[in-house]
Amino acid sequence: MVSGTGHYLPERILTNADWEKMVDTSDEWIITRTGIRERHVAAPEEATSDLSTKAALSALENAGLAPEDVELIIVGTVNPDMKFPSASVFVQHNIGSARAAAFDVGGACCGFLYSLTIADALIGTGVYKNAVVIGTEILTRMIDWTDRNTCVLFGDGSGAVVLEKSDGERGLLSSTLQSDGSLTHLLYYAAEGTRYGASHETLDKGLHAMMMNGREVFKHAVRQMADSSIKAVEMAGLKPEDIDLLIPHQANIRIIDATAKRLGFGDDRVVVNIDKTGNTSSASIPIAMDQAHRAGRLQKGMNVLMTVFGGGLTWGAAVLKF
Ligand code: ACO
Repeated sequence: MVSGTGHYLPERILTNADWEKMVDTSDEWIITRTGIRERHVAAPEEATSDLSTKAALSALENAGLAPEDVELIIVGTVNPDMKFPSASVFVQHNIGSARAAAFDVGGACCGFLYSLTIADALIGTGVYKNAVVIGTEILTRMIDWTDRNTCVLFGDGSGAVVLEKSDGERGLLSSTLQSDGSLTHLLYYAAEGTRYGASHETLDKGLHAMMMNGREVFKHAVRQMADSSIKAVEMAGLKPEDIDLLIPHQANIRIIDATAKRLGFGDDRVVVNIDKTGNTSSASIPIAMDQAHRAGRLQKGMNVLMTVFGGGLTWGAAVLKF
């Protein structure tokens, strides 16, 4: 069960008006096409584990769990501090969880949901009693700041939940995770891996930036977020009307609206924060979850549906009794 939630958003805010000064775009285009008004940008000295540490400490305090009792830490991220070690071991040290195992999961935007499912299974099989599951991205360091097609979409942040062995009914009721590796060309960051490495040539070719076919990704996202949501609700033995809150990945308000419409959900059952955060990738669901929790909108015992898609393509959905 989720016993606590937390999040951290970097201090610096970049508004659409700020982007108007840097690329050929407009506040009106960004709001109507994406729903985004502003996003947070990490300070130059902030690394993935710094954001993650703040979110994790906030979630642990919310859960009332002492850091020294944490047994597992997973960070869903595609942009850790270094190639290795993982961002999660820096978090482990920073928060003082001396006994915890720690690893990262690279699932693009799905990193948090993949990590949550893994942690839930490891707790369910008795390997660990608890876990801190974190989603963190500093995507503003992975975009081409001159490419208006992508640069205005993304923001930085971190969200975390504490998972503990269930006290009965509460916990993950279902999870469906999928991928289609034939669609890698729709969304990727090519450089700095073993395929292209990092060289003057990769810099000259512009490979150190996210590439995206927005229109194609959009189509897949709308279909797969709704399909996997329906599947997750069925797997949980529930009907859409049994779901109290939908917490969707915050990539585009039009994708969120289309998903909610197919599920028959009105605005009152959908958590939206994209206007203030932009797309924070694997951090988006846990940030939205913590904000809804602290605002009193998400309460103990509620059935929560989460759904996400991202590079891979990867996608999925899960139902959680909060
Ligand atoms: N400002 C002004 N005009 C722009 C901008 C901008 N920032 N960006 C694109 N345009 C222009 C395009 O150049 C195009 O002009 P043209 O018709 O003269 O060629 C026009 O606007 C329309 O472009 P489209 O791509 O058709 O716009 P669309 O309505 O599809 O919106 C968007 C684009 C917002 C990218 C949308 O396709 C989308 O959200 N797709 C999903 C992307 C996504 O969520 N990716 C994240 C995946 S998660 C992860 O793993 C990181």
